[in-house]
Amino acid sequence: MGKIKNIVVLTGAGISAESGIRTFRDTGGLWEDHSIEEVATPQGYAANPELVLRFYNARRAQLGTVKPNPAHFALARLEKSLLSKGGYLTIVTQNVDDLHERGGAENVIHMHGELLSQWCRACDHKFRSDAAFTLSSTCAKCEGVGKIRPDIVWFGEMPYRMDTIETTILNCDLFVSVGTSGAVYPAAGYVQMARGLGKQTLEINLERSEGSHFFHESRLGKAGELVPQWVEETLRQAGT
Ligand code: APR
Repeated sequence: MGKIKNIVVLTGAGISAESGIRTFRDTGGLWEDHSIEEVATPQGYAANPELVLRFYNARRAQLGTVKPNPAHFALARLEKSLLSKGGYLTIVTQNVDDLHERGGAENVIHMHGELLSQWCRACDHKFRSDAAFTLSSTCAKCEGVGKIRPDIVWFGEMPYRMDTIETTILNCDLFVSVGTSGAVYPAAGYVQMARGLGKQTLEINLERSEGSHFFHESRLGKAGELVPQWVEETLRQAGT
């Protein structure tokens, strides 16, 4: 493998599973108890905003009870090492939790939004808060009541910072995917973009995903074990 200077790591719910955050499509996943249409679409929010606010309030409240796992910490270690050599690690996460940041990572793109970011539909103001929101919550900026929604990208909405994501893939040497089923685009298409650009590609996942066949290499197992192993291997190869 040629010199690896710049790495993009796409992460999904599987990297947070060992921290105790449910995935979506595994047995016992979130979509077993909740209909995507009801809690993860603009139509669902319009039809029953209280149900949607409750769903995200519960997921936001859980953040205070979970911690980053060794996979999150390992990626942060790798980021610091690559930066010290003039390279970069960009984490493109589909996850809306804050475990990458709490694990020490700094260059994180939340393409599906964040539980800790709120959005007032009346004045478009976005702000950070870990509070629970209801239909009587008031926007600090416009004082609109009951207009605050989670700053989460729902199905049918445009993911965030796709230009930046594509640029970081264009300039990387290695594209790694950790803990995602490869079920949702555009994230699921990034490995094909990387392959089309001649990049090395690696998948780390508990089981084969819908995109496994696109990767040069697929390592099957727990992220909490395989990601630290891969990071140590990469740091050794880079001579640190
Ligand atoms: N280590 C590694 N991989 C794991 C682990 C683990 N401990 N536990 C589960 N996985 C894998 C599963 O095998 C599965 O392939 O993580 C993947 C989780 O898949 P999903 O539940 O579909 O989650 P994700 O791929 O992140 O979903 C993508 O779909 O519903 C939308 O917006 C939501 O961002 C989400 C997107």
